Amino acid sequence: MSKVQLNQLPSDQTILSPSILAADFTELGKEVNMAAEAGVELLHIDVMDGHFVPNISIGIPVVKSLRDKSDLIFDVHLMITNPMDYLEDFAKAGADHITFHVESHSPVKETIDAIKELGLTVGLTLKPGTSAEELKPYIADIDMVLVMTVEPGFGGQKFMTDMLEKIKQIRSWANESNPGLHIEVDGGINKDTSKLTLEAGANVLVAGTAFFKHPEGMSKAAEELR
Ligand code: DX5
Ligand code: ZN
Repeated sequence: MSKVQLNQLPSDQTILSPSILAADFTELGKEVNMAAEAGVELLHIDVMDGHFVPNISIGIPVVKSLRDKSDLIFDVHLMITNPMDYLEDFAKAGADHITFHVESHSPVKETIDAIKELGLTVGLTLKPGTSAEELKPYIADIDMVLVMTVEPGFGGQKFMTDMLEKIKQIRSWANESNPGLHIEVDGGINKDTSKLTLEAGANVLVAGTAFFKHPEGMSKAAEELR
């Protein structure tokens, strides 16, 4: 586990969580260290099962290998049908934080409680087509909401401007019931769209392409995103 945890960071701080989906997997340890040197706080790890989303990415062994090489807060985004079945394995492998989808087949409240019982921070996320109302009942119980700003499954897609309203809505609910709530955005985040999401009330920025594939390097990418 990382020494610092997400719930120790203030929700008015801009936090970067680069998505390793866009990294060079043959140099993963090195790329993750470069991300840390660029000053990011979190590392976003996209887990896909080929069932919840039409793509397969990486899983438990990769988290475990990275844990020995990095002190970053591991922000695991589970795009899988049955998150409840894998929580313990991800915790053992070294996850610090787990975000799961409200559309998954696991019972939401029980899954939130199970993640907390493992000593991890917890996030809830929703696809672009899912109403924010679906996660409203859980806002007081969680550390982060992840607003997907593309259809989950692939990196390199175009940011969906419609999602800005959803961010504003969730931030206004959080102001009433959970002021420490982090709001993360994921998909198509670059130096222009990051600004829009921060203004709407997000504070945690996931970036894959705009971070790992930035032509001038990761430090420049981090500077632009913030
Ligand atoms: C999409 C993933 C994202 C993705 C973002 O399903 O959840 O984290 O890697 O990639 P970019 O930043 O390239 O849109
Ligand atoms: Zn993600």
